[in-house]
Amino acid sequence: MINLTIDGKAIQVEEGKTILQAAQANGIRIPFLCYHPAIKAIGSCRICVVEVKPGPPRPQPACTTRVSEGMEVITNSERIKSIRRELVKFMLVNHPLDCPWCDKGGECELQNLTHELGIAEVDYEAARKPINNDVESPLIERYNTRCVTCGRCVRVCRERVGASAINFENRGYFTDLGSGQQPLNCEFCGTCIEVCPVGALINKLFKYSARSWEMTQSETICQFCGGGCNYQ
Ligand code: FES
Repeated sequence: MINLTIDGKAIQVEEGKTILQAAQANGIRIPFLCYHPAIKAIGSCRICVVEVKPGPPRPQPACTTRVSEGMEVITNSERIKSIRRELVKFMLVNHPLDCPWCDKGGECELQNLTHELGIAEVDYEAARKPINNDVESPLIERYNTRCVTCGRCVRVCRERVGASAINFENRGYFTDLGSGQQPLNCEFCGTCIEVCPVGALINKLFKYSARSWEMTQSETICQFCGGGCNYQ
């Protein structure tokens, strides 16, 4: 077992765990965006950044940094909050302010982070990326303008579904979500929609039908649908 502290709390975790896993196992919240428990962590968004000691505090991604003996982790210093704030602002530079009609509005991880970090305006400017949305597919609408390039959809499709039907195109600032410039051509299993933290991938049939806070949980014997025959 490894001994470390997170925000001054002494904890013990198994060797090989990441800081994020150690924090979650001990009820300490670290925000994240590209991480998803169902797929491999790649440490690309840096929203999970924390300060790590001993030595001068070093910013490190919690989702990919493994715990080590004697490690001291600070999850929410002013420096860390400032780094997260600037990272989210960079994401918002190219993000449309269409939350009121986006199907993910109110349950969007980017929207939550923006509120949590107190971002009222974005003081960066950059050329807008070309709009390359695709609403032609029968079941999945793809809004590239809302994509934060976290790569969850790309990885889950490759790692869990084994299809690689969706991928990144272009590079750097112009990185885009696509499938060979064509409408999505897949089995429409919807796994990519489930893991998308924003409204970049939308279920065409289900959109606007109910927000998560408008639904109630009910008993069901059916194993195939989330609502159940006695859904009210
Ligand atoms: Fe850790 Fe994105 S959640 S880098």
